[in-house]
Amino acid sequence: MSSPTFKPVSVRAGVNIALIKYWGKAKDQENLPAVGSISMTLRDLFTQTRISVSPDDSDHFELNGIPTRDPRVFKLLDQVRTRAGIDQPMQVVSQNFVPTASGLASSASGSAALVTAAWKFLTDRDEWTEVIDIVRKGSGSAPRSLLGGLVELDKARGEIRQLSPPEAWPLSMVVAQLSEGAKATSSRHGMAHTRATSIYYDAWVQAHPYDLARAREAIERQDLEQLGTVMESSTMRMHACMLGARPPLIYWNARTLQVIELVHTLRKSGVGAWYTMDAGPHVKILCLPDDAHDIRHAIDASGVSLKTTIDSMGDGVCVQ
Ligand code: DP6
Repeated sequence: MSSPTFKPVSVRAGVNIALIKYWGKAKDQENLPAVGSISMTLRDLFTQTRISVSPDDSDHFELNGIPTRDPRVFKLLDQVRTRAGIDQPMQVVSQNFVPTASGLASSASGSAALVTAAWKFLTDRDEWTEVIDIVRKGSGSAPRSLLGGLVELDKARGEIRQLSPPEAWPLSMVVAQLSEGAKATSSRHGMAHTRATSIYYDAWVQAHPYDLARAREAIERQDLEQLGTVMESSTMRMHACMLGARPPLIYWNARTLQVIELVHTLRKSGVGAWYTMDAGPHVKILCLPDDAHDIRHAIDASGVSLKTTIDSMGDGVCVQ
């Protein structure tokens, strides 16, 4: 019997930024979140991953041109092989068009691109439940990068659904990069620490469904003020929850507060701008495309940001 021939597969997956945050995992589940979340998939920050047949008997992984032995990547490839029932070593070449591990969600786009590419490479079958399940193990927020526009991830079964496609309600995000290099505490470790020690953790989980409902309603009505307001609130509650841990967990730096203050000033002058931060100091500002250039200009004029970019809503994973 002849062995199957494998064609190289290339996949692009956009970074996603949570509007309503996921922070904390369900007990004893395979990386299922303790809370649901809603995100926006970006167009210009993304990971591109190409998979082809390995030149030898083992897997190879290259990230941004550097051969890397990242156990998380090899574990995900093992899971894809097991579920696909095909034992084929792979060569993975990945490029992150986003700063790696800095709190700009490169692990989410990375897992989404890697698992989709490996699955399509081995099977060419469109079994998305399998893909979602494996992607989630790479990163809890990663399944959201499989879809474009505004996306909800359900906490119970980890399912994803698109709440609004990019063309229905185009929004922008101004990304202010406020540090260089990788973050000190991974999200995974930070979440476990928060759940184990924060006196605010239970309150965070209990109050969360209300924020999801407010955001869904805002998206349905295309009400940016309501969406921005609930996004800021979800952001601050997540960070408050981390501050309640022992020792406290702080992902911000001094520049983060300066940008928040600037957003408040912009809003007072009538510009529709709302901020959000994740497991890193950077601030992402949600706005209408027409306001994005003025917001970027204001941030650059303040001299706080190392690099400021404007991004818009992107599509889900694209297989080439
Ligand atoms: C603050 O998905 O990176 O960005 O599941 O442990 O891989 P793991 O965590 P990850 O956490 C993302 C946390 C967040 C909020 C969010 O994106 O919802």
